[in-house]
Amino acid sequence: MKIIIADNAGFCFGVKQAMNKTINAIGNNNSKKIYTYGPLIHNNQVIKRLQCRGVFSVENLEDAKDNILIIRSHGVPLYIYDLAKNYNIEIIDATCPFVRKVQKTAKEYYDKGYTIVIIGNPKHPEVIGINGWCNNDAYIVQNVEDIDKIKHLDKICVVAQTTITLELWNHIVEKLEKKAKSLEKFNTICTATRERQEACADVAKKVDAMIVIGGFHSSNTQKLVQIGKMYCKNTYHIETAEKLPIEELKNLNKIGVTAGASTPDWIIKEAIQKMNNMEHENNEMMKMMEEIES
Ligand code: F3S
Repeated sequence: MKIIIADNAGFCFGVKQAMNKTINAIGNNNSKKIYTYGPLIHNNQVIKRLQCRGVFSVENLEDAKDNILIIRSHGVPLYIYDLAKNYNIEIIDATCPFVRKVQKTAKEYYDKGYTIVIIGNPKHPEVIGINGWCNNDAYIVQNVEDIDKIKHLDKICVVAQTTITLELWNHIVEKLEKKAKSLEKFNTICTATRERQEACADVAKKVDAMIVIGGFHSSNTQKLVQIGKMYCKNTYHIETAEKLPIEELKNLNKIGVTAGASTPDWIIKEAIQKMNNMEHENNEMMKMMEEIES
């Protein structure tokens, strides 16, 4: 059995950075409690491990008063930094640098008098965070119909939630051109998601089964499952190695593996190890059968 691991499987740069900052904070700190502002990543296994090390998630800043608060890769609205000061909170900022660039662009152009348009999901913490860098005054659009809510304006600056598709960006920007005298466009889509999805498709095309590892609630993992199924009908979504569909994989030649942006290496390695063990056991069984028959 050949196992093919898709390129870019697992943590993206921003998530890796957030994990490293958290692990360093645990190692360096011996007096204050460490909290994360919302769950650090969408992976239950990682969250449980962090909780075992005393790191818990809070939704209200007050709950982290006098302690350490880690800001996750999605970033936060600007006012959170001031509020944290009021509560004597030490901030460890793990905002992804690509998200920071969007926040700064939104602020810069808002201060210059532009109306900010964010293309993305209004409920997503990253979008809520970016809007919080331009006084919560941005128009947030997630489809072409939302553009009708925008009146004709002099100056518009448009940015993107880092994980939207290029198709959506192109589609909406084309319509926005007609809404403003001057349109400043900043395509802030991060390529990590697209590269992971393309690698998933490439592998799924050439394997007998595709294993996608990641949280059941992780939307980027669900997207990988959809892509996997488009090219390989035997696509399985698992959260951990224990859930590998061993019986279904047993007699296949090529198995592909990919993982969502919040899936740590150790979970990917466990799954690969289990498949290797399965093959070893299979070979042993075959040998035994041959010996019995001869
Ligand atoms: Fe950052 Fe891109 Fe990941 S924006 S958090 S590297 S998906």
